[in-house]
Amino acid sequence: MRLALLGCGTVGSEVVRLLHEQSADLAARIGAPLEIAGIAVRRVGRDRGDLPVDPDLFTTDPLGLIKRDDVDVVVEVVGGIEPARTWLVEALRAGKSVVTANKALLAEDGAALHDAAAEGGADLYYEASVAGAIPLLRPLRESLHGDRINRVTGIVNGTTNFILSAMDATGAGFAEALEEATELGYAEADPTADVEGFDAAAKAAILASLAFHTRVGAADVHREGITEVTAADVASAKAMGCTIKLLCIAARGADAAGRETVSVRVHPAMIPLTHPLASVGDAFNAVFVEAEAAGQLMFYGRGAGGAPTASAVLGDVVAVARNRLAGARAASESAYADLAVRPMGEALTRYHISLDVADRPGVLEAVAGVFARHDVSIATVRQGPAGGGPAGQGSDADLVIVTHVAPDAALAATVRELRGLDIVRSVASVLRVEGGQ
Ligand code: NDP
Ligand code: HSE
Repeated sequence: MRLALLGCGTVGSEVVRLLHEQSADLAARIGAPLEIAGIAVRRVGRDRGDLPVDPDLFTTDPLGLIKRDDVDVVVEVVGGIEPARTWLVEALRAGKSVVTANKALLAEDGAALHDAAAEGGADLYYEASVAGAIPLLRPLRESLHGDRINRVTGIVNGTTNFILSAMDATGAGFAEALEEATELGYAEADPTADVEGFDAAAKAAILASLAFHTRVGAADVHREGITEVTAADVASAKAMGCTIKLLCIAARGADAAGRETVSVRVHPAMIPLTHPLASVGDAFNAVFVEAEAAGQLMFYGRGAGGAPTASAVLGDVVAVARNRLAGARAASESAYADLAVRPMGEALTRYHISLDVADRPGVLEAVAGVFARHDVSIATVRQGPAGGGPAGQGSDADLVIVTHVAPDAALAATVRELRGLDIVRSVASVLRVEGGQ
């Protein structure tokens, strides 16, 4: 069984190392030796340390490598949309099975890959694309196929989980925590994809597609990052017995006509400390799945890093190699349900709203009236002197309101109207609250 490796960076070099170290076991598990036919990179002359590989295997011609007759399986760990899409479509159409960790491409144009796999009769595996080492996609696409998944809630970005965990532990602000994450090598030099939620949104699209048998792309995902989360928000969450996490949430629902839909979103949210995801700290990932018969399931582990991600890649390589030897194919894409994706405004959620208001008669009534007009029910109200200053008539007060579940559009309209009231000096923060009443 001969494979073409596209990319030999953080993940690819660990794939090479594991292939070398475990070659005898892998051959026994597959039923044939597994060999690297070639490795496509950008710079053939790059210093790759003591990587246990023949330097003659390196090439800068990925397409030429893919097209070779002696290549059975293509492993793509380069990343990005193009030229990766062209390479993988070419490989799949030619009947070569593909293993990829490329979440950006799967979320942007997974359809092109699945269609090419169907056309070429090849396997397409991508376990490493979501939550790195955690076996998660296989359970969704195989083990839970006899069940009905209702909701998937996950922490699927390690960088932002590290930042939010640091803010929670030390009281630091976002900028300070990001600096620490960068120094420790968790955050990349350009952290935009992580902190603005793009990475998590791509993963959310992949999870939703598998969980709900529906093609969901990155553009279908409502996305908000963590750059606006403040130390005050974290302190307020703590006061409520909560912590703040960047969550990806994919859930079933129904439209006004009762037709089944899905909603997929990524945003920071308060969750109670009693929620299983609250204790997921550092750069770890975890995904909480709620299914009809199985009940609640939790998947936890390392979501990134060379070796953990390579573990997931190699698991896929063994699966596709065994299929090829047996002349079999994995189950193809399951998108039969084809559910409509509900707009964010219809998603049901709860809000935590901090207001700076004038402390005088009628203020609470006016504020409560805004919620009532938008049919949003208030769950709790907490009032204290503004900024911890002196309390009393005529001064300002901090008002913290937590709502019951309501459509996001109604909650957003409530906040808009609150901003327009002259008794509201400022809306200090608005955060969603998830995970239990
Ligand atoms: P790196 O940037 O470390 O490595 C990229 C590799 O691709 C390098 O070997 C580079 O060559 C090669 N490459 C880049 N452009 C080209 C090109 N045009 N032609 C041929 N080769 C090219 O990326 P990672 O290993 O971190 O990530 C790879 C994939 O895995 C991405 O899709 C990423 O999203 C995914 N992933 C990564 C995780 C991680 O923890 N790093 C976790 C989960 C998924 P050269 O070596 O010459 O520079
Ligand atoms: N940047 C990603 C993270 C890497 O922080 O989780 C894994 O996809």
